[in-house]
Amino acid sequence: MTFWPFRSSSETFLCQFTKYNQSSSGSKALIYFSIHKSRTTVIALLVLVHEGHAQAMRFFTRANADSYDLIVRLATFGQDIAWKHEITRAVTHRSQILELACGTGILSSILAQRGKSVAGIDITFEYLLSLKRKLKAPIAQGTAEVLPYRDGSFDAIVSSYLAKYVDVQKVIDECWRVLRPGGIVVFHDFTYPRGLIRNLWNIYFELLRLAGRFVTSWKVVFRQLDDVIKKSDWVDQTIGALKNKKFQNINCRCYTAGTSAMVSAEKP
Ligand SMILES: C[S@@+](CC[C@H](N)C(=O)[O-])C[C@H]1O[C@@H](n2cnc3c(N)ncnc32)[C@H](O)[C@@H]1O
Repeated sequence: MTFWPFRSSSETFLCQFTKYNQSSSGSKALIYFSIHKSRTTVIALLVLVHEGHAQAMRFFTRANADSYDLIVRLATFGQDIAWKHEITRAVTHRSQILELACGTGILSSILAQRGKSVAGIDITFEYLLSLKRKLKAPIAQGTAEVLPYRDGSFDAIVSSYLAKYVDVQKVIDECWRVLRPGGIVVFHDFTYPRGLIRNLWNIYFELLRLAGRFVTSWKVVFRQLDDVIKKSDWVDQTIGALKNKKFQNINCRCYTAGTSAMVSAEKP
């Protein structure tokens, strides 16, 4: 399905209204309901989305939006910014870039400083407000599984820490649609390390759990993030989904002793 692009709208926040309801079937699936309003049209959508939405909505809230940048820097010992520079390097020769789950705009800001034209989408309103304070960019509130952009709008699509919360195949189908031929997708997220590092990683999350007693706005994340990472097989799912969609040059690299990974591919 093709949408009128939000990018043409002067006030992105007015363009979409999102509401999530527990499905009546008793399963953990959620209904994603959105009304897309451009200057000329209103489109209503109902889509069944991944249970990761509920998790993401518990994690990323109004209470922790303002402290996100500091927490992600401290909690990853500065690796977050190094990983984001790797993502930036992967899209060096692309100019029009969409960031999925742009959050508070750390990556979008780096890309914009490098002269890229950046658009962003995220489900958390307060995170987008924080982005808006640091960057003038077209942004939309919505899920990465249903993108409100025209076919062939971007040269590159990037995301960091999204893959474990979504139906990756849906996201990749949408990436294929909104990418131009020759465009690139880059997914980056945490992974559960192997070997000795795994023990250290587990100890680290025990410490984070303790820290959550004092940093209450991050308590839920510090308690549950390790479980979400352990249960996610986003790397294999992403590679499988990219192959299904006939993306080419699929590449996967691990970083910082296997604590995160980046999967990239090109649309032929
Ligand atoms: C850990 S934050 C990462 C923010 C940013 N990508 C970064 O690297 O700093 C995860 C973000 O994913 C967003 N998110 C989770 N599920 C999403 C979905 N289905 N569609 C769009 N954004 C989503 C959350 O709202 C949150 O802003």
